Amino acid sequence: MLYPEELIEEVRIRNDIIEVVSSYVKLERKGRRYFGLCPFHNEKSPSFCIEPAKQFFYCFGCNKGGSVIQFIMNIEHLDFLDALKFLADRAGIALPEPEDAGEKEKSKLRMQILDINKEAARFFFATLASKNGTGAQGYLRRRGLTEKTIKQFGLGLAPGGWNELTKALLDKGTEKGLLLSSGLSLETKNGELIDRFRDRVMFPIFDIRGNIVGFGGRVIDQTQPKYMNSPDTPVYNKSRELYGLNFARQSKSKKLLIVEGYMDVISLHQAGIDYAVASLGTALTQSQAWILKKYAEEVIISYDSDSAGQAATLRGLDILEKAGCNIRVLLIPDGKDPDDYIKNNGPEKFKNLVDRAISLLDYKIRIEKNMYNLDTIDDKLKLLNSIADILAAHDNSIERELYTKNYAQQYGISLESLNSEVQKRRKKQISKSKEYSLRKNTAVRRELSGIPQIDSRYGDLEYLLLVMLCNENRFFGKVSDEYGLDAYMDKGAKKIAEKLYNRLTQSKNCVLAELLNVLEPKEASYMVHIAETNSDLEDTDKAIQQVLNKLEILKLEDLQKQTIERIKNEHDGIIRRQLGLEFSKRAERLAELKRLA
Ligand code: UTP
Ligand code: MN
Repeated sequence: MLYPEELIEEVRIRNDIIEVVSSYVKLERKGRRYFGLCPFHNEKSPSFCIEPAKQFFYCFGCNKGGSVIQFIMNIEHLDFLDALKFLADRAGIALPEPEDAGEKEKSKLRMQILDINKEAARFFFATLASKNGTGAQGYLRRRGLTEKTIKQFGLGLAPGGWNELTKALLDKGTEKGLLLSSGLSLETKNGELIDRFRDRVMFPIFDIRGNIVGFGGRVIDQTQPKYMNSPDTPVYNKSRELYGLNFARQSKSKKLLIVEGYMDVISLHQAGIDYAVASLGTALTQSQAWILKKYAEEVIISYDSDSAGQAATLRGLDILEKAGCNIRVLLIPDGKDPDDYIKNNGPEKFKNLVDRAISLLDYKIRIEKNMYNLDTIDDKLKLLNSIADILAAHDNSIERELYTKNYAQQYGISLESLNSEVQKRRKKQISKSKEYSLRKNTAVRRELSGIPQIDSRYGDLEYLLLVMLCNENRFFGKVSDEYGLDAYMDKGAKKIAEKLYNRLTQSKNCVLAELLNVLEPKEASYMVHIAETNSDLEDTDKAIQQVLNKLEILKLEDLQKQTIERIKNEHDGIIRRQLGLEFSKRAERLAELKRLA
């Protein structure tokens, strides 16, 4: 481990799990637990819960669980160390430089790439300002960008030669390998380095802190491809970044407007709509959705309204909905993108469109409506059926009721009949989703048993024993006497037991959440799964004795089976008799244990 256990534990304690999770999931208190919609699988009713007293989360639907550290690992897609850094930052704890050589190397490489990206951006910016940049400057002007906007977004120009940037950076002493890892240079067959971006207007891509993590480059003429982008590098992952977020997060608006392209973001910011960000042509990803959720109370999606854009919008909506965002859809007339629209109609008209952005339900129904010809009764019926489907799938009951009324009126049907169609579907959906979660539960359990296990009969009980021991450290003497480390049959449980026993032997106490610090997400999930599915069990001497007894029964029964086999195959009468004696002694003990159970 890179950091001392005490430091890891301090990071955990200083990040209250309720506070951390609240910025991703809407939580509601029910008894001693908090519940919300699970961010790790798609669900309609909450099965994700947090035990504030115990500081762990668990989802009864997908069985994911763990401490605040595993939560961040899962939701931010970080490894243990990055999750730890994330939480340390959040709590204002300074972590020392990692001791690990590999980790040090990685963070050095990241810093170096950020440095040369900054160097490259300066180079592009200067090229644009130079006399070689006259053409590109004219292009940007024609597209309506001001000097100030060009500066704010750091736009530049990649020169037309084969290796001008590469040469400039090599001259400054940059290493070849670094130029390749940054994605700025490419290697030709004969080992020469050339520029990736040539003769393109350059858009630096900033991360949230304003570091330049990559570039997009647009041709000035009609050549293809229109845009070229940095590949994924140690500092850039296109499925995580949102172009413009470094500016948009400083907006006074609580909204974020998500659009498709570089130019859309830039025009919108120039027009005073400073809360626009772009997913840069790729389909919206789950991590982008979580980031949006984190920074905005409301997300407005404005993708092109051509059919590809519409499909992208629908997919994006699903992902945003799953992340728990409040969503509206902004439709631009005549299939224009925001940049075109502002150029032709001015900023004020665009702001009107923002105000008139429609709800998710309206959008879904609008798409359905476009698929039918409403002059025929048959089509009208089909549409009404789809409306009932869409309404039934909407969970907010107040909104559902309002929209049902609205649509009944709009399509001239009685409220009663639309309502009864919706209710019918909801009943079906609810029973279906129950069935589904049961089925899924067993699947996940089977998947979880991918943790090395000799025998899940032992695994379940041994994990339970460890959970109880965490809840009540005072059982340690008894448990270690009766069930020492050698007794563990399940490898995963044994690994955890080693850590726990070790701490308790040194008379340090240990709660479950702390033990989770050192577990792989899968092991943590399993541990929390056992804790939560047995949470009605009281932590009493009697209860722990029962677990120990059950384990003893399992072991004795296994021994009995082996003994029977041995007796069958034993030819020596004396040994056979001795085995028989052992067998009956054990049988007595088994009977006694089972009486107690
Ligand atoms: P668009 O084709 O809508 O381009 O692609 P745009 O942003 O409106 O650009 P202009 O107005 O023609 O200059 C949207 C986004 O998809 C990505 C880019 O991020 C672009 O901003 N894209 C598009 C590419 O990465 N490569 C391409 O060849 C095209
Ligand atoms: Mn455009």
